[in-house]
Amino acid sequence: MNGLPPIPDGVVTLDDHEAHARTTLDANAWAYFAGAAADERTLAANRSAWSQLQLLPRVLRPLAGGHTRVTLLGRELAHPILLAPVAWQRMAHPDGEIASALAASALQAGLVLSTQSSTPLEDVARAMGDAPGRGPLWFQLYLQHDRGFTRELVQRAERAGYEALVLTVDAPCHGARDRERRAGFKLPPGIRAVHLDGLPPAPTQALGPGQSALFDGLLSQAPTWDDVAWLQSITRLPVLLKGILHPDDARQAAALQVAGVIVSNHGGRTLDTAVSTASALPRIAEALRGELALLVDGGIRRGTDVLKALALGAHAVLIGRPAVFGLANAGAHGVAHVLRLLRDELEIAMALTGCRTLADVGRDSLLHPATGNFTIDS
Ligand SMILES: Cc1cc2nc3c(=O)[nH]c(=O)nc-3n(C[C@H](O)[C@H](O)[C@H](O)COP(=O)(O)O)c2cc1C
Repeated sequence: MNGLPPIPDGVVTLDDHEAHARTTLDANAWAYFAGAAADERTLAANRSAWSQLQLLPRVLRPLAGGHTRVTLLGRELAHPILLAPVAWQRMAHPDGEIASALAASALQAGLVLSTQSSTPLEDVARAMGDAPGRGPLWFQLYLQHDRGFTRELVQRAERAGYEALVLTVDAPCHGARDRERRAGFKLPPGIRAVHLDGLPPAPTQALGPGQSALFDGLLSQAPTWDDVAWLQSITRLPVLLKGILHPDDARQAAALQVAGVIVSNHGGRTLDTAVSTASALPRIAEALRGELALLVDGGIRRGTDVLKALALGAHAVLIGRPAVFGLANAGAHGVAHVLRLLRDELEIAMALTGCRTLADVGRDSLLHPATGNFTIDS
């Protein structure tokens, strides 16, 4: 590891990375990366919902030859952990998204690049490389009011080798980001969403009396289910929807034949008091019956959380903030460390619950709801 910035002493968990990042990030960046919407109840609920689930281990099962491999969108992955799309990563570390891609590639993790990346998608794809066994590279899309501009962005991602599009559907407008407003959050000079360079300004019209700046302004351009079909019609890439919490929305997504669904509440950054993702996941898994790729994010900080997500029906998980905190602490080395810790913890959790492979992880890895756990029946 010569030449790499060291992992700070005593940092041995994802929470340790968070605690250390608080000392490395300035107050402005900390408010942005660590914060969430309003009273941050969903941010907290995401964490507590995973930890409240109780594991029911099996013993004396054969474990030799076990592994964490999983198949996602027809591709075998070394393990089920991906980096979630997180905007403006150069605000956490000068190497930003390039460092995340180098780490993901080295640790065989998937990477979902944000539309609001501070590094061009082509550079990130180059850093991710194409070593055998590297994880999937997906592009997260926010539909822009100018659909022609959106189409060009999709074509850029296709040309650069991105393998899927992740359409984020839970943020037609910003949540009430009170922590950011209290901190007076501002993007530092030199950092911007580079993919939105050249986006024509949204058409504006004077609001009449009684009209809402939100509903009659910004939201008059907000995407709908019709736009999902439009996106599918202009791309050859599989489309996943990120930000699904209601099983009926999952069913509607399946009816449109999207490739997958990501159960997410945007890490608590949009609608505060929205259901935690661990609570939403079982009903969505039931609605989809294994027909689509099913992923989940929000509050995943431990290998046991990953195992619980898979037990509730997810095929893979994403992590947002922990990777950014690793990035802030030690650049690419820090992100790689976060991924390594989580994967190692997953292997330990599998071994100690008697699961040799992820196919062995199921509902019976969790305690029954009658004793306080929630599952699909609750
Ligand atoms: C600072 C920050 C920026 C984010 N930016 C995006 C984004 O650009 N697009 C998106 O779909 N989700 C974005 N998210 C949400 C993440 O993709 C993910 O859903 C969330 O962080 C998962 O929760 P976790 O941080 O508890 O792991 C962002 C999250 C954070 C914390």
